[in-house]
Amino acid sequence: MLIGVALLSTRYYMVDLPVWHFLGGGNGPDPVTLHLRGEFVESNLGAAEGPAGSLTVRMIAQQFDFVPQCIVVPAGVPITFRITSADAVHMLSFLGTDYGLKAVPGVVTEATFTFAKAGEFKIPCHEFCGAGHYAMRGHLDVVPRDQFASLLPGERRTCEPR
Ligand code: CUA
Repeated sequence: MLIGVALLSTRYYMVDLPVWHFLGGGNGPDPVTLHLRGEFVESNLGAAEGPAGSLTVRMIAQQFDFVPQCIVVPAGVPITFRITSADAVHMLSFLGTDYGLKAVPGVVTEATFTFAKAGEFKIPCHEFCGAGHYAMRGHLDVVPRDQFASLLPGERRTCEPR
């Protein structure tokens, strides 16, 4: 266990931090104040509609869950994900698809994916990030477009039955 922690922290300083700086870290969101100000405050997380019907999903990965834990998006629409990490490096993988996203502290990772059909996707973390890594998973609920349009903002951030 101790060796594992030592290896992880070594990896953080020897690999992750230089990569982070290379990617322009420092201009990105500060992992310590993520929840308090800026793009990733709680009220701004989840799916949000932008101009011309575009859709952006903002998420935080942290030891050992995702915020929000569940996200609801419409089927057949390009969705731009913007994610960051509050601590270690995490890797979101959308089970059953080729889609994946790395969450790095201090960096916003952006990618656009389209989910053709309605369905539920589990989002396990695929990067070893600590003791709770194996239990770290989120959910993506893809619903028909007209159903999505009728949801209130709060309902787009939960997998509670509707
Ligand atoms: Cu987060 Cu593994």
